[in-house]
Amino acid sequence: MTITEFVAGITAETIAALYNETISPSSVTLNETRKEFEGDLTVVSFPFTRFSKKSPEETARELGAYMQSRYPEVARFNVIKGFLNLVISDAYWLGRVQAISASENYGIRSRSGAKVMIEYSSPNTNKPLHLGHIRNNLLGYSVARILEAAGYEVIKCNLVNDRGIHICKSMLAWEKFGDGETPESAGIKGDHLVGKYYVLFDRKYKEQVSELVNGGMPEEEAKAAAPLMREAQEMLKRWEDGDQEVVSLWKKMNGWVYEGFDHTYRKLGVDFDQVYYESETYLLGKDLVREGLDKGVFFRKADGSVWIDLSEDGLDEKLLLRADGTSVYITQDLGTAQLKYDDYRMDKSVYVVGNEQDYHFRVLFLILKKLGRAWAEGLYHLSYGMVDLPSGKMKSREGTVVDADDLIEEMIEKARQNTLELGKAHELPEEEQTELFRKVGMAALKYFLLRVDPKKRLLFDPNESIDLQGHTGPFIQYTYARIRSVLEKGGGIAEEKTTFDPAVLSLNADEKNLIILLNKFEEIIGEAAETYNPAIMANYLFELAKTYNKFYHDNPIRKAEDPAVQAFRVCLSEITADIISRGMGLLGIEVPEQM
Ligand code: ARG
Repeated sequence: MTITEFVAGITAETIAALYNETISPSSVTLNETRKEFEGDLTVVSFPFTRFSKKSPEETARELGAYMQSRYPEVARFNVIKGFLNLVISDAYWLGRVQAISASENYGIRSRSGAKVMIEYSSPNTNKPLHLGHIRNNLLGYSVARILEAAGYEVIKCNLVNDRGIHICKSMLAWEKFGDGETPESAGIKGDHLVGKYYVLFDRKYKEQVSELVNGGMPEEEAKAAAPLMREAQEMLKRWEDGDQEVVSLWKKMNGWVYEGFDHTYRKLGVDFDQVYYESETYLLGKDLVREGLDKGVFFRKADGSVWIDLSEDGLDEKLLLRADGTSVYITQDLGTAQLKYDDYRMDKSVYVVGNEQDYHFRVLFLILKKLGRAWAEGLYHLSYGMVDLPSGKMKSREGTVVDADDLIEEMIEKARQNTLELGKAHELPEEEQTELFRKVGMAALKYFLLRVDPKKRLLFDPNESIDLQGHTGPFIQYTYARIRSVLEKGGGIAEEKTTFDPAVLSLNADEKNLIILLNKFEEIIGEAAETYNPAIMANYLFELAKTYNKFYHDNPIRKAEDPAVQAFRVCLSEITADIISRGMGLLGIEVPEQM
């Protein structure tokens, strides 16, 4: 039970006892007690004046007096206006420490039976992953882990856009200019090789367009008339008709891309339970279009195209099927939404997609509701902002976006330099050094991206992200490693948890602050899960690391004179290490034992 749940519960009991009124504990408003007053938690008593028929102050005093007499956990109280500040007894906090220490999996809720699907990553197969995908992958993976900890059954899914004009462009350029080049022959990762031809297509195409424009053709016309574009469209048509040759080239090149993606996913430490391919789903939406027409939710224009009018919802008309009968992006998403639901019957379905698609998802969810899909209430767009780099930093080979593989390598290299400079890693065997640099570099990258609210645009600063003194992943890792060295005794760390006798202890401020935070872990998981926001966990872990460091700095642990105090502080250290390690795990971040 969290402290909030506990105090809300006794408040409801007190209201029932004093005023004979039944209120739900969840309706009680609780705040952390303001720093200038004594107390751990504050009950807002204004709402109860309608039961007490007394002033807020008197009501608060009445509640406090009853609680103090009735519940040994309430040690003292004071009242400021209608705010009842409660001081919770040391015995209560010490009991929490014992309970947390004894629990196998403190903070983790057991399965509630609810199911959620998290779609994330969902790349196109014409080029490698970039910095934006990194944010996407880290968010998706972390939210999945957090929801799992909060009791959901989670399905991580990836919807790969493996078909369409974009991939045909890469295929065509490879066919024309590639000279049979393969990832092996070129020594280039498959996704990068395919990306190279996508860029080449674009260059050659632009040359053709400007030739036509120089010859006097208007630009719009030239863009459509350029032979390369016509050929690419021709190729797409042949793909749709199942042309053997095109399909086998498509399979070959996508195969290269998948190998490349897998490598990047492994480095990022993310994975999927289900992969959907648009080549297998892009026709599905057409059934829903038919249904919408039958139900009168959609309408057909004179040219045969199908639309929905969303003006009553403050949006505009939206195309669902082109006049030639081909589907558009949203048609496919209607189809895949239905497919996902038919496959899994989940209660919630989350789409981790950048905020440039906010409008798309508003429309998508609205249409599904209008089609009468009750499950559409469970759809959620986890929208996130762009990631920038300080100017002049690492553009990709293609010069437009920051390449994911390059950035990962750079971060690991930075971790290597930093760690060696600080003179910490020299004694480790080489293999362990390599592992350490990888863990530190990835933690720097991941933590910096995850500590920010997903909605916010962010600037990724590689140097800041790796600072051992900063609000960073490596700072938290370092705190963990420090605790592990505290716990080490006689060359190892004991498996069994340390026990202590609470009866002989009283808490100082550093201990109490630490316990309050440790006791919050469960609540933080719940809050992060409810808001799909890993930043809540990330910031909590930073607070915890700072609070532990203060405790460590100002209180002897192994050197405490009283053996009971020593055991208690060791126990606090064990719990802190455990929560840091599991909390970082929920962010997809590993912690090293030594640093
Ligand atoms: N492949 C798309 C892109 O790269 C993202 C797909 C997002 N998911 C979805 N169900 N629409 O922009």
